[in-house]
Amino acid sequence: HQQKKAQLFLKGKKMLISAGPTQEKIDPVRYFTNRSSGKMGFAIAEAAANAGASVTLVAGPSQVQVQHHQIERVDVTTAEEMYEAMLEHATKSDIIIKAAAVADYRPSITYDQKMKKQPGPLYLEMERTRDILQTLGNQKEDQFLVGFAAETETPIENGYKKLQKKNLDAIIVNDISLEGSGFAGDTNAVTYLNKQGRKENLTLNTKQVIAEQIVKLIHEDLEDQ
Ligand code: CTP
Ligand code: CA
Repeated sequence: HQQKKAQLFLKGKKMLISAGPTQEKIDPVRYFTNRSSGKMGFAIAEAAANAGASVTLVAGPSQVQVQHHQIERVDVTTAEEMYEAMLEHATKSDIIIKAAAVADYRPSITYDQKMKKQPGPLYLEMERTRDILQTLGNQKEDQFLVGFAAETETPIENGYKKLQKKNLDAIIVNDISLEGSGFAGDTNAVTYLNKQGRKENLTLNTKQVIAEQIVKLIHEDLEDQ
């Protein structure tokens, strides 16, 4: 019992986390999306709840299940719905983590009837979605704000750029070109960067272990703040 209590280092903290992809409708049978299983974000939600945090998990479409009694799951589909849900919960949160793979674009027009195929190519106009993390960074008060960056080139450099541009406290950089790192699998390897220049390599491990390491690093940085 004593030992369990000692591990509840996030007791009393409210965490808001988004995970999974978003889906942007084209017509009743088609959508535009990003690759993401949701596993990494869900694992972080679970690790934080196990550490005693009250967690709100804003989830894009994902097959992953959660059952921890300290996780409240809010299901969303589109980037716009995720934006609304995140903004609604942001100000009352102590820690915000944006693990979701948000679509950067959505079709400018959606069709209520199935589009029938025509001869020749199809041109679809896409418009930009809102950047949820940028908005959270711009209006940040005393929340500890953490982003993700999925990169295929110069990941650390791109990670620092996003950390600064979006006014984050830390960013988790995922080099998706590495073996065992990234989407559907059960393993990952990431680098944790904070705004003071701390850099921690979390080497190849299960998403559960990586999630526990991330939650501990966030807690340490929160203590130092
Ligand atoms: N993000 C967001 N809202 C968007 C796009 C991205 O909140 N509309 C968040 C992601 O959840 C992630 C971070 O921003 O935490 C970085 O996402 P990423 O796709 O790596 O970067 P972008 O800023 O979208 O830039 P680009 O895709 O051009 O590299
Ligand atoms: Ca993007």
